[in-house]
Amino acid sequence: MHYFVNIVKKYKVVSGPFPKVNKKVLLLYSGGLDTSVMLKWLNEKLGYNVVALTLDVGQRELNLDSVAEKARNIGALDTITMDVKHEFVDGYVSKSILSDGLYEDSYPLSTSIARPLMAEKAVEVAHDYDCNAIAHGCTGKGNDQVRFETSIHALDPSMDVLAPVREWNMNRDDEILYAKEHGIPVPVGGKYSVDENLWGRSVEGSVLEDPLVEPPEDAYFYVTPPGKCKDTIKEVKIGFEKGLPVKLNGQYLPLITIVNELTKIAGENGYGAIDHIENRVTGIKSREFYECPAALSILEARKKLESLALNDKELKLKKYIDDLWANNAYNGLWHDPIMSHLNKTEKSLNEFLSGEIALKFYKGNCIVTGAESPNSLYNYSLSTYGREQTFDQGSAAGFIKIFGMQTILSSNVRNKNTHKLRAIEEEA
Ligand code: ARG
Repeated sequence: MHYFVNIVKKYKVVSGPFPKVNKKVLLLYSGGLDTSVMLKWLNEKLGYNVVALTLDVGQRELNLDSVAEKARNIGALDTITMDVKHEFVDGYVSKSILSDGLYEDSYPLSTSIARPLMAEKAVEVAHDYDCNAIAHGCTGKGNDQVRFETSIHALDPSMDVLAPVREWNMNRDDEILYAKEHGIPVPVGGKYSVDENLWGRSVEGSVLEDPLVEPPEDAYFYVTPPGKCKDTIKEVKIGFEKGLPVKLNGQYLPLITIVNELTKIAGENGYGAIDHIENRVTGIKSREFYECPAALSILEARKKLESLALNDKELKLKKYIDDLWANNAYNGLWHDPIMSHLNKTEKSLNEFLSGEIALKFYKGNCIVTGAESPNSLYNYSLSTYGREQTFDQGSAAGFIKIFGMQTILSSNVRNKNTHKLRAIEEEA
């Protein structure tokens, strides 16, 4: 160790990819094989003291105390576990709800929106602990490296980032061998690569890499697989205020509780699984299996609420803004200033989205069965075909003449010209 420090001082060596020795690195530690091997490797190969940071974003499958203990046993200098569930819900999930956050009309961005928060916490803790670098466990093929590194450098451009998985060229078998040689416990049953938080669960790898293969039952965790659901209907009512869920079945509850309850209720009834072939920011098409019962239920309910309370122009604007929002969130550009413009517009578009939506869950389906809003633009007397109707039908004729004028005019001119052309062709 000293040997390297001396060389650096004597010859003023220009940094290679891993120049720092005997310094502190903050590792975003999940407890899985990659980051466990990384912890040892950063220490052993690169001479870093490792501060392991594990963030609780509502993982349901993990015991975070044992994750911290594992990091200590592998040799972390400090282990930090932070509960950021409320921050995640208040600052990230709620923005995604207001933006109807759905990537490629399918994926509620559960992994995507947790990454900027993790990057923020990593920078914060790295500063507190005087770390010179932040290390993450992402591969060079995915979106998460883009999200972490863009966010970290948006917050602190001087922070070094280490991505050992991109450099070390170890496959899973090599990692297992390294783990065994260094007394690192190898997680059992790690057939899939899973990322989890309270907004959803992302599953990829193994048999899922073949898009022809139906996601097997062992890929499911939040959602009851098809064919295994109870033959009963479960009804819930979600109450919204300014676009956010505030009530479940008439009872005011914190958003985090509503999300957890809906994950359970919808999931038990087989609703919330998504089989998606997605376009990654790196250009790769990947097949991912998601379980997002709460997210899909809330978005489904909001769709109905929006159809009641937004006018036709607002709906079109919202669709456009939502798409921009989802693409930027997916692409790791959470800290781009455009997001703050979009969030302001989204907030304004949500101003009138209050009301109650009734849903029925039945064997993998979510059916919207009723909707009411104090801001509803649905006007019974205008739309009814009954005697009480107030719409002035006579005004329609004049409207059609003006509304259809260009269509009628242009198609008449073209038809005439087409006839002329044909006549000329026939004569020739
Ligand atoms: N494809 C998803 C995204 O980019 C999830 C990535 C993490 N997935 C995983 N199974 N580890 O947001």
